[in-house]
Amino acid sequence: MYSNLIDFIRKLYNSSDQIQLHEPFFNDKEKSILLEVIDSSFVSSVGEMIGAFEDRIKEYTGSQYAVATVNGTSALHIAILLAGVEKNDEVITQSLTFVATSNAIDYSRGVPVFLDVDKDSLSLSPDSLDSFLSKNCEVRNDGFCWNITSNRRIKSCIIMHTFGLSGRVEAIKLICEKYNIFLIEDAAESLGTKSLDGHTGTIADIGILSFNGNKIITTGGGGMILMQDEVLEQRARHLTTTAKVKHPWLFEHDRVGYNYRMPNLNAALGLAQIDKLPRFIEEKRKIANSYQIWGQDNNLNFAQELNNTVSNYWLNALIAENIEARNEIIKETNNNGIMTRPLWTPMHLLQMNQKYEAYSSMENTTWLFDRIVNVPSSFSEELNF
Ligand SMILES: Cc1ncc(COP(=O)(O)O)c(C=O)c1O
Repeated sequence: MYSNLIDFIRKLYNSSDQIQLHEPFFNDKEKSILLEVIDSSFVSSVGEMIGAFEDRIKEYTGSQYAVATVNGTSALHIAILLAGVEKNDEVITQSLTFVATSNAIDYSRGVPVFLDVDKDSLSLSPDSLDSFLSKNCEVRNDGFCWNITSNRRIKSCIIMHTFGLSGRVEAIKLICEKYNIFLIEDAAESLGTKSLDGHTGTIADIGILSFNGNKIITTGGGGMILMQDEVLEQRARHLTTTAKVKHPWLFEHDRVGYNYRMPNLNAALGLAQIDKLPRFIEEKRKIANSYQIWGQDNNLNFAQELNNTVSNYWLNALIAENIEARNEIIKETNNNGIMTRPLWTPMHLLQMNQKYEAYSSMENTTWLFDRIVNVPSSFSEELNF
């Protein structure tokens, strides 16, 4: 029934082999820079590649400060700690996200509050946030926003830019400012994506990136904390390096810290990859355009960037008519050697999250979960537009 989709993807990737959802792309540049680092013996968390990679990310995103970490999840954990989240403080986020967003809240001993997304952006809905806060919360004399129902402070809010599409982060930011809530952008999937006011991850108080092997560029494993405030940057550096006090020979630590610093070897891979990023984005936007046109011709909607934003189109998504059609597409394509997959099971449906209060109907999250199909989106030199 979906043989035309299979034919289209095979033609696009010019391949009769297995086609993955997202594969990294390397050439001799990665090999030579990795050899250089191995020869230098600085393979771990000390070395000049780390600072150089942070500088390149700052330059590319326009962020004032950047601190490299072992992965995106650890970057999120530190961001939540820097937001001042303490035991039992609430952190608002979208139910439609990868589990790392929700896990990092638990690592910080916070309590997640899951809200709905917008159908078009696949990202936290400003209406859902505003409605939750105005119905349930108040800013008290201590300056904090309190949830009247749970009697807990709401310290932070995390918006996630799904699949590289920019969410409505500027609108979310205005609402958070009104309620004195520290805003974090989970931009793990959106390196290269521009929102209305700049690069995703640089609009909020803190943003994070991921360089996992499946992301638009990879360091093997890696992440980055983006900040616009020097005090936050100093604290992020301190917390990610076991809270070691600066001293020429003493090993002294002034609190419990984390061994979250990105190793030099991974940063080197990032330096080779970031040179390729503009080309990856250009080609990925062409892939997205091809899926969109194919979708128009075949009555399947395509998850498109919002007006006045520029997506990196990291992972493309088709929107099936209903859950039966979604399942059929996924079954047929995978049976024919083309990897496709549904959305992550929404956070509010996971067993471990059943203990948290539900505040939202999750209408759009459920609608999208029933319909989204991610389709192959890798950069390849074989692409055939
Ligand atoms: C939305 C989102 N947040 C966080 C992460 C965590 O990043 P990492 O895998 O680098 O820990 C990922 C991806 O893996 C992600 O997609």
